Amino acid sequence: MDKLIIEGGVPLHGEIRVSGAKNAALPILLACILPEGPINLSRVPRLRDIHTTLKLLNILGCETTFEDNKVKSVAGDIQTEAPYDLVKTMRASVLCLGPLLALKGEAKVALPGGCAIGARPVDLHLRAFEKMGATFDLDSGYIHGKCKKLKGAEIHFDFPTVGGTENVLMAAAIADGDTVIENAAREPEVEDLANFLNACGAKISGQGTSIIKIEGVTSLKGCNYTVMPDRIEAGTYLVAAAMTDSELEILDCPFQELDAVVYKLREMGVWVHEDNDRVIVRRHGQLKGVDITTQPFPGFPTDMQAQLMTLMCIANGAGTIEEKIFENRFMHVQELVRLGANIKLKGRTAMIRGVEKLTGAPVMASDLRASASLVVAGLAAEGRTEIQRIYHLDRGYEQLEKKLSAVGARIWREKE
Ligand code: UD1
Repeated sequence: MDKLIIEGGVPLHGEIRVSGAKNAALPILLACILPEGPINLSRVPRLRDIHTTLKLLNILGCETTFEDNKVKSVAGDIQTEAPYDLVKTMRASVLCLGPLLALKGEAKVALPGGCAIGARPVDLHLRAFEKMGATFDLDSGYIHGKCKKLKGAEIHFDFPTVGGTENVLMAAAIADGDTVIENAAREPEVEDLANFLNACGAKISGQGTSIIKIEGVTSLKGCNYTVMPDRIEAGTYLVAAAMTDSELEILDCPFQELDAVVYKLREMGVWVHEDNDRVIVRRHGQLKGVDITTQPFPGFPTDMQAQLMTLMCIANGAGTIEEKIFENRFMHVQELVRLGANIKLKGRTAMIRGVEKLTGAPVMASDLRASASLVVAGLAAEGRTEIQRIYHLDRGYEQLEKKLSAVGARIWREKE
């Protein structure tokens, strides 16, 4: 197993280009089950979750190639079982349920795994498909769904679930009749998936709002599509600059989609400026603590919670973070405390009191975004930080240590 070593306290300087968004690429790849012609995708990040998804696509009957961040996929004779060995490592595998039910009238998908950040059930996905005419059995760890032909329906989500909205979008695209999703997730990655499906001939409108309308079509065709850049990766680099009191220029930065994050960074005393094709970021004097509540888009994203908490660890005064999306997403707290942070947890709220500096120590990565927070902490901490279990990082950040080394960080990978 690899570990990351960081010698902190080194200022960063230069440009970092953001990769394609993992959370947009995953559903788009699984939607490749649907169209009859070839799909050519660009800006696909080289990540472990993407390789897992390509393996799953192969098992399900798509022929794929992946070179230079480009994926080509051609659907063949589609199979209906997504095996446990693949699904257990990646929760997003459950997104093949919608396309398989719509295309084949059957799907057998292992109950998902992924980051250990709470129970993360899929009940909202299943209830939506039941409204569209599917029935489900839970059998030996598998969800077994069946239907004659999925029918368009009015779906109202109790919570604007990202995966649930994406699953229904894919299924409804080729269902019989019209579907309306109310209280749909408004995340930019949902919009990217809808735009991709439309490029394949789907008739979706309202994506990016909380009411999405889908007119079912009989079939989808192939297309060329470029995946949106990763707003969470970009946000992580904004925090890295602020943490290390440095200036960075972020290329291909999805600035509009980072509104809530930039707003909080500015409130903390970070200067962030969009200038043509780049976003420039630097710390502007002393940082100060702020209060943050995670929310569905356009609120503050839970996927940036750990990174902002890390920044607050070295701010002046106190701040709070309330985690409203996942019940167990504070596993980075005890590791940050090992680096000298002062954080108290009470239920779903963390109270952070800024300290003068963090100090390097061995720490353990527990989930994807927690790992990112430990990297940005290590960049600022005095001395040497060793991050174990970095396989989580490889699920979501393309060439993280290469990109950071190129702007001056002392960071490298070693075998444990
Ligand atoms: C997606 C993102 C993840 C991000 C999250 C919230 C991907 C691959 N992952 O995850 O990075 O942190 O959105 O922005 O895109 N829930 C239920 N029942 C359901 C579905 C969800 O109770 O059927 C709950 C979950 O347990 C969680 C909350 O709703 O507490 C949000 O989940 P959801 O929006 O579905 O997130 P994911 O699609 O899993």
